[in-house]
Amino acid sequence: MIVITGGAGFIGSNFVHHWLAERDEPLVVFDALTYAGNLENLAPVASDTRFSFVRGDITDREAVERLLNRVRPRAIVHFAAESHVDRSIRGPQAFLKTNVEGTFVLLEAVRVYRAQWAPSDRESFRFLHVSTDEVYGSLGPSDPPFSEATPFAPNSPYAASKAASDLWVRAYTHTYGLPTLICHCSNNYGPYQFPEKLIPLMIHHAIENRPLPLYGDGSQVRDWLHVEDHCRALLAILDRGRVGETYNIGGRNELTNREVVETVCRLLDRHRPRAHGSHVEGIAEVPDRPGHDWRYAIDTGKIERELGWVPRETFVSGIEKTLSWYLDHPDWVWNVTTGAYREWLDLHYGTGRSERPAQA
Ligand code: NAD
Ligand code: DAU
Repeated sequence: MIVITGGAGFIGSNFVHHWLAERDEPLVVFDALTYAGNLENLAPVASDTRFSFVRGDITDREAVERLLNRVRPRAIVHFAAESHVDRSIRGPQAFLKTNVEGTFVLLEAVRVYRAQWAPSDRESFRFLHVSTDEVYGSLGPSDPPFSEATPFAPNSPYAASKAASDLWVRAYTHTYGLPTLICHCSNNYGPYQFPEKLIPLMIHHAIENRPLPLYGDGSQVRDWLHVEDHCRALLAILDRGRVGETYNIGGRNELTNREVVETVCRLLDRHRPRAHGSHVEGIAEVPDRPGHDWRYAIDTGKIERELGWVPRETFVSGIEKTLSWYLDHPDWVWNVTTGAYREWLDLHYGTGRSERPAQA
């Protein structure tokens, strides 16, 4: 049995789908269902007997201990986090609380829980901490890509909170011998991504003929990875990664934001044309994000050499699939963008109810 924190979010839910397609082993999702958590993301697996869901907060020590003692997992894959840079600029405290304190609470609970085990089980336990390339800061145009040896230089409150959580994980490995693994991944895209992030936001706005807000001059560079490739990398790290190591994950798809948005527009011109002209005409330059990191790029040599992982999707194949998914799931988009999924949650949970069986 494994535990997935944050499994109702974008990458976590994709990982749940991937796991259940690849493995017989059951899993439990532990998720607080913040604005970014959506049980609809897990609806396709809700009746699978290997899947169960517990609503809970990683900053709640008692809830985490209850979970560990009841489920007795052999591994935790830790996705739960506040994940949006713009929100971290407007309200940094939630990032400190969830990303740093929440990770600390998990580590502490796991340390105590593991101490009750036989030495062989203690060694086979894994804590996989899902982190980000943003901990490394920003690159110039001719800088080499981030390697695992690149020093941390986080620039946003989000990046600082993730870097801090990485250091806590590292300390628990060195001090207490906790068998941890850390990965630093580049920008993901794919199904179930909350439309506050660049690609789903642009798809949604274009379909509604709303302006497509490009920060600054749109020259910032990100390395885009399809979420299924990220999930495959995480499985490889969990199975074969060396304890105490970090692994960088990237898609070899460095693109400017303008290139990404124009690609989405051209695809929509084919699949969902405007009455007149191209969706590109909807692009509107807006004031830049404060402290905006200019470029991220990833050296994936270590994970390729050690674990034989390489991305399968190109940006061309991945963005086509992604766009089709959003066009084929208007109800999901509507529920998320109108907030209807929150009303549904309130209806189902009511006040004070913290757990429910796996039904979406
Ligand atoms: P997301 O915002 O879509 O999902 C986060 C999930 O965590 C939600 O289901 C939310 O309900 C849950 N959560 C938040 N606070 C919680 C708490 N206190 N207790 C329990 N659950 C809580 O995020 P995502 O984009 O899927 O990212 C998942 C992880 O991957 C994060 O740790 C993020 O830093 C990391 N990451 C994301 C990307 C990316 O491009 N999205 C890239 C690299 C790394
Ligand atoms: O690099 C990994 C990180 O990628 C993850 O750790 C984060 O959780 C994830 O949110 C993502 O961070 P970014 O800030 O890079 O993603 P976002 O989708 O918010 O923005 C991507 C780029 O697009 C960034 O340069 C800002 C720009 N942008 C974004 C939005 C939402 C715009 O130009 N307009 C927008 O409206």
